[in-house]
Amino acid sequence: METDALSKPPINVPPTGAETESIHKRHARASHSLQTIYSDSEILDVCIIAAREAGQIIRDTCGKIAVEKTKATVQDLVTVADKNCQDLIEARLKERFPFADFLGEENVAPGAIASASALQSFLTPPRDLLFIVDPIDGTTNFVSGIPFSVVSIGVARRNELCVGVIYEPYRDELFTSMKGQGAFLNGEKMSVSPERLLINTVLGFGLGSSSRVATTMIKGLSALEPVTRGQRALGSAALHLAYVAAGRLTVFYECDLSSWDISAGSLLVKEAGGRVTDTRGVPYTLETRDILASNGKGDIHTQIVDLLVQAGADAAPIPLSLN
Ligand code: IPD
Repeated sequence: METDALSKPPINVPPTGAETESIHKRHARASHSLQTIYSDSEILDVCIIAAREAGQIIRDTCGKIAVEKTKATVQDLVTVADKNCQDLIEARLKERFPFADFLGEENVAPGAIASASALQSFLTPPRDLLFIVDPIDGTTNFVSGIPFSVVSIGVARRNELCVGVIYEPYRDELFTSMKGQGAFLNGEKMSVSPERLLINTVLGFGLGSSSRVATTMIKGLSALEPVTRGQRALGSAALHLAYVAAGRLTVFYECDLSSWDISAGSLLVKEAGGRVTDTRGVPYTLETRDILASNGKGDIHTQIVDLLVQAGADAAPIPLSLN
């Protein structure tokens, strides 16, 4: 049914006015059918299967796989496991959703510019179903044998997130969310922390994988450290976001992240009752790279925005080269 609905007009035969209209109608119908054929819960189920399978590879091989190469900087690592996990996830998703689009970290050239433009190529025109995948978020931890890495799968329908799955295989923690349906940890509903005071917050952050970003982050942390209870860098942006959603961290802040690092986690935080914006307080979209996620209680979020903007730590300098 989908094949017929999506079939293209014959090449080299310009459509007549009436045919153009019918082609548009067919595409609209196909688009509508893709939106409705697959329910969010069906998509979620397949993402969970894929994330668990990749998670098993991560758990079994953590600390046992060498770095294959570095990407844009010496801190930006790739192993064969990243690619193997991504291939496995893509195969599982495509088996069930053959018409869906797939943006995976390992298919994209290194650096911020390439990552932003790869995402852009999937946003216009908007895709009916787009999977945004980081097969191993926390690759440095994975290589070092530190058990803090996750599989992250965000799913967007026409540029709006509808499903987010983050799987942490070492503790067997599965974080899931569907738009409008709440967020769950191993099937139990989870909520952001109830904390209302900045001084009582525990803040997660990452330094990124280039000096360009690290310098900005250190400036931001210098402003936030005196006014927060504690700061933690766990080495995986997606894990930080899952922990904000679960109420373990109150805040996560990091500049210049890619869509595959933060899309699933952003939906989790929102569905757990939190707030996700960029570092200037503009609501999160798939294009956001400088992220601030919090429990959204009291004035915590706006106070952090103000502090970051005052410190000039709300955005890393625009990259001059690939990193
Ligand atoms: C990295 C992690 C890290 C963050 C980096 C990311 P990767 O992702 O999320 O916490 O600081 O900016 O690139 O390379 O391990 O998938």
